[in-house]
Amino acid sequence: MVTAFLAVGVTTGVFLVLSVWLLISEKYLANYGSVKVDINQGSTIFERTGGVTLLNALYENKIFIPSACGGKGSCGYCKVKVVSGGGPILPTETGSLTRAEMKAGIRLACQVKIKEDISIVLPEEILSVKQFRARVSSILSLTYDIKEINFALIDPVEIEHHPGQYIQVEAPGPGEIVHRAYSISSPTYEKNKIQLIVRLVPGGIASTYLHGLKEGDEVAFTGPYGEFRLSEDINRNIVLVGGGCGMAPVKDIAYSVLEKWPARKVLLFFGARTTKDIFYLDQYRELEKKYQNFKVIYALSDPLADEEQKKWTGETGFVHLSVDKYLDKGAQSQAFLCGPPPMIEAVTDVLKEKGLVNVDIFYDKF
Ligand SMILES: Cc1cc2nc3c(=O)[nH]c(=O)nc-3n(C[C@H](O)[C@H](O)[C@H](O)COP(=O)(O)OP(=O)(O)OC[C@H]3O[C@@H](n4cnc5c(N)ncnc54)[C@H](O)[C@@H]3O)c2cc1C
Ligand code: FES
Repeated sequence: MVTAFLAVGVTTGVFLVLSVWLLISEKYLANYGSVKVDINQGSTIFERTGGVTLLNALYENKIFIPSACGGKGSCGYCKVKVVSGGGPILPTETGSLTRAEMKAGIRLACQVKIKEDISIVLPEEILSVKQFRARVSSILSLTYDIKEINFALIDPVEIEHHPGQYIQVEAPGPGEIVHRAYSISSPTYEKNKIQLIVRLVPGGIASTYLHGLKEGDEVAFTGPYGEFRLSEDINRNIVLVGGGCGMAPVKDIAYSVLEKWPARKVLLFFGARTTKDIFYLDQYRELEKKYQNFKVIYALSDPLADEEQKKWTGETGFVHLSVDKYLDKGAQSQAFLCGPPPMIEAVTDVLKEKGLVNVDIFYDKF
């Protein structure tokens, strides 16, 4: 028995020493020399010393890949097609890639280290993502943990975005800048500003940084990113479902759509827990008066928690129940969902029962 424990201990010790040695030699001893990064068959080529991640090498050269988790390998947003030179697929990538993607050479840019000349393919829209500087113009507390933060753009002074897209804020983290995704809540026609709706995550680096900003403070971000695409067919209804700070892209889409197509049918659902989590309801009621085909439905999942809540006369229960109640079966619709994963999954099931197919349903889980 003692011998067995000893053997396990020695093996673990050897393994640990080897791992540490590998990490040290990778960091301090490995010398990959100068490597070439070729984008879109020679349309852009740059050189840098090997050993960094593809994501960082591109960032240094002002090519901004979506990286919502900041390079931790958990969001799967940083997919790029590697034609050659990417080395074998790593275990840290397999959870985010389908078999078909792996076969097609898709890799996670934050996990691929450039060690030799590498050739990649990037879509044009990624190459048009820019870095912005902006100044805080106003801040509004929407609930006890959610703030609306408005930024005036400094350089460039204008942003073009599709409704529902997001930016990545550069926030000072411990020892390095971290990048976090935030959906744009201002409509597409407000080109000189960006509005964000940010929930404070206790201990969270970027949300604490954003909640600590004051009027006049300067921030940097890149964008726009995201694959939400509105159909131009005005006969297709728009279904918007947001939970908590998932209100951000939903608000952008509602205002952008109604300004462009005032007669288009838009149903906006918002899921919250209690009346303390409600915001923007009054301004949406005003919007309902202005646009006869716009309807807003707020649903509270825990409405009887205190006296004030008992006065709530709106919908109750999880928001997917309201979607089920108000959305007609078979209506030609496109849906945009933002919020926590269980909400997205429950709403998606309801939408499919109503006749929507996968290509009609766009979502960001956060
Ligand atoms: C496409 C996209 C759009 C987004 N849009 C918005 C938006 O409009 N508004 C907004 O507020 N957020 C949004 N997010 C989430 C945002 O990017 C950050 O993940 C969030 O603000 C936390 O970052 P942080 O740096 O403060 O926390 P971190 O420093 O990354 O995390 C600190 C700790 O909190 C945990 N944690 C991280 N995120 C959450 C969370 N959401 N809830 C609970 N615990 C968490 C982590 O596991 C960790 O333990 C979006 C995310 C994506 C992918
Ligand atoms: S940046 Fe999130 S997986 Fe690569």
